[in-house]
Amino acid sequence: MQTKTILLTGASTGIGRASALLLVDEGYTVFAGIRRTEDAEALKNACPVDRASRLHPVLLDVTREEDIRAALATIDERSRDGLYAVVNNAGFNLNGAFEYTNEADARSLMETNFFGLAGLSRAALPLLRRYAASHPGETAKLVNIGSIGSYIGVPWEAYYHASKFAVLGLSEAMRHELWHERVRVVTVCPGGIKTDFIPKTERSLAAANAQLPGDAPDSYRSGLAKFGEAVGKATRFGAAPDAVAQRLRKVLASKHPRSQYVVGMDAGLFLGMRRLLPESWFHAVMRRQFTA
Ligand SMILES: NC(=O)c1ccc[n+]([C@@H]2O[C@H](COP(=O)([O-])OP(=O)(O)OC[C@H]3O[C@@H](n4cnc5c(N)ncnc54)[C@H](OP(=O)(O)O)[C@@H]3O)[C@@H](O)[C@H]2O)c1
Repeated sequence: MQTKTILLTGASTGIGRASALLLVDEGYTVFAGIRRTEDAEALKNACPVDRASRLHPVLLDVTREEDIRAALATIDERSRDGLYAVVNNAGFNLNGAFEYTNEADARSLMETNFFGLAGLSRAALPLLRRYAASHPGETAKLVNIGSIGSYIGVPWEAYYHASKFAVLGLSEAMRHELWHERVRVVTVCPGGIKTDFIPKTERSLAAANAQLPGDAPDSYRSGLAKFGEAVGKATRFGAAPDAVAQRLRKVLASKHPRSQYVVGMDAGLFLGMRRLLPESWFHAVMRRQFTA
């Protein structure tokens, strides 16, 4: 019997890797996007032998149209039912003072975090629609990984937050458009998660600080340093990637998934404060935490 098929991006490490392995455990057939062949082998090796036949690493850089086409053609060939779900997880951070962030770097971030996600979603729609059409009473799922940074703009990673706000807006609008096609669009928004994302952020911050010109405001230098300390704490207090994988498992199993989910105590706390406190209080808290 053919099992439900999922395409998930950014499966080499972190949330994507944990999710690919958990979803295979759950009985799904998972096409897992990676960018290097050695990551395909590592992922396969991490999967129990009796399930490995349901895990298919596919070379997929979401900024490359030819990768998207090839990955979807492979799925089209192998999955008569089309795609039950797409999970757009690939993404990265870019740190620094907005004023000194290189525009080419910012555009490259948007190419992956926003346009890559949008391009893959658009290209995958025929396969999602095919699943929905051949399973009356069921819905296909398009799940986008946002962030607590989809709701709250945090200093020193302005473009990252812009990309994640954009993901949330796109997802909400798409949810309405695709409702009658029985494709449910959901955004899952994690707080701090202990993955390579955190050391990568620390490196990106250190590079941004080192590249500040001599006449940059002192408040930038001290703010970047203070933010670096806060990021370091996420290494200790962040949730495990499995927390996001478990949320994805529930979303994918749900008949009526909500449009948005927040994952992690820190994310719940920040969003609660954002919604309950007067804006000026909340912003004062943010500045005290992350600027100097
Ligand atoms: N960790 C957190 O605290 C946190 C919080 C909120 C949201 N998120 C979001 O969660 C998602 C996963 O992050 P993570 O924490 O698991 O970090 P991670 O371990 O750094 O994983 C990021 C994944 O995205 C892939 N990727 C990056 N650019 C890509 C591209 N152009 N095409 C295809 N894949 C690409 C990476 O592949 P390579 O190995 O090939 O680079 C890697 O597999 C991201 O969207 C991130 O923004 C993370």
